[in-house]
Amino acid sequence: MKEPTTWHPVVFPEASMTQMAEGLKGQPTEDYRDHAITEAVLKHLGPQRTVVDIGAGIGRFTVPLAEANCDVWAVEPSAIMREQLAAAVKASPSAARVHTVDGLWPRVEVPRMEVALAALVIHFSPTPRAFIQAMERTATRRCVVVIHVEPMLAALQDWWRIFHPDRPAPIVPAFRDVYTLLWEEGIVADVSIIEPPARGDFWRDPEKMLDGFATLLDLSTETERAQLAALLRERLTAPDASVTRSRHRLAVVSWTPDSP
Ligand SMILES: C[S@@+](CC[C@H](N)C(=O)[O-])C[C@H]1O[C@@H](n2cnc3c(N)ncnc32)[C@H](O)[C@@H]1O
Repeated sequence: MKEPTTWHPVVFPEASMTQMAEGLKGQPTEDYRDHAITEAVLKHLGPQRTVVDIGAGIGRFTVPLAEANCDVWAVEPSAIMREQLAAAVKASPSAARVHTVDGLWPRVEVPRMEVALAALVIHFSPTPRAFIQAMERTATRRCVVVIHVEPMLAALQDWWRIFHPDRPAPIVPAFRDVYTLLWEEGIVADVSIIEPPARGDFWRDPEKMLDGFATLLDLSTETERAQLAALLRERLTAPDASVTRSRHRLAVVSWTPDSP
């Protein structure tokens, strides 16, 4: 079956991965050892305790899962992210349990695992259907996909209309799009909604946002960049301002794979 035509994946350049990594770290109040996403994996493990963490990033879930005695295959295409992942893994007493795989899901080979986790990754994929099908082929007990309820980067859509009034604004895939896709694949998944604590300062710092947004907005001139810098400063001056939606709910979507 074809990929959905309404699906517009986020294209995040490697040059902006340092910022994404910083954004992931910027939520210091959360403990990922005792987190709803970690729990969603742990409760479905079998005797082998094997997990593939697709788009592992800086290892927010890879490391706590390894420390909960899981063997974790961490798939991560970004060299910048892998470097930070390696540092986090090295600092863990369970480092030997982590196997890092350089590549894009689903174009990587991993052995069959009990649980396949993809936390905040599928919206980057241009082939979400193939992404889900590969999760189903890989996991023997459970697939877990975590995705934003409110499409992330609300400011991107507002500003796109300013810079490119003649081009349709990219809509970042969110929960409703993922659930529709699963439904079309014949999967009726369980869903639980979580609301993580407020984000760290990273998402409120106009300087840190500039490069990433300039790329996402496809800006090419210094004049456009200066205009964006002014928009960022203006949007981020309110005390609880953010470039994301005011609410930041996540859907933990999980199902038992239909694999032989
Ligand atoms: C927002 S981060 C989430 C990281 C981690 N799962 C977490 O929640 O902390 C998204 C990660 O997915 C990776 N990624 C993007 N597309 C991917 C793909 N097709 N396969 C595997 N990883 C991908 C990015 O490099 C990035 O590290």
